Amino acid sequence: MFSKMRISMLVASFAFLASVGAANAAGDPAAGEKVFAKCHICHQVGPTAKSAIGPELNGLIGRHSGSVEGYAYSDANKNSGIVWDVPTLEVYLKNPRAKVPGTKMMFPGLQKQSDIDDVIAYLSQFDAKGEMVKK
Ligand code: HEC
Repeated sequence: MFSKMRISMLVASFAFLASVGAANAAGDPAAGEKVFAKCHICHQVGPTAKSAIGPELNGLIGRHSGSVEGYAYSDANKNSGIVWDVPTLEVYLKNPRAKVPGTKMMFPGLQKQSDIDDVIAYLSQFDAKGEMVKK
């Protein structure tokens, strides 16, 4: 009786942890669109996106840092050797100047982990042409 209860409690807590982990890893693209308002003064995404103060951010996942043609990156960004993926973006968006010392991205970073996860989920939706990819 006791051990049966312990097992079901264990199963329940594993299920809970798994769901929390999944929510964290995935992020919420709709919430991320709101977070992107903070980036939008400098960055664009979507089919008509152009580089402005910052480079356009289409097809960001798997993109090499400093690779948008015609955009005048800092040497720090161009030479960072980063290929943007979820783990590198998580660190970068928390504190851009710590991840890429000397970057000209004048943004202090996002404080909330959920904002970081959500904005990455939002940006991950756009392929290199800015079309939405359903995942
Ligand atoms: C005040 C303007 C500004 C804001 C706000 C800003 N950025 Fe940037 N961002 C830049 C600039 C400028 C660069 C180019 C950095 C360099 O060359 O050193 C950049 C670079 C980047 C890069 C690297 C792109 C590449 O091609 O290597 C990513 C990713 C990025 N920003 C994401 C974001 C996200 C996400 C936000 C919002 C949470 C944001 N930025 C907010 C100006 C900004």
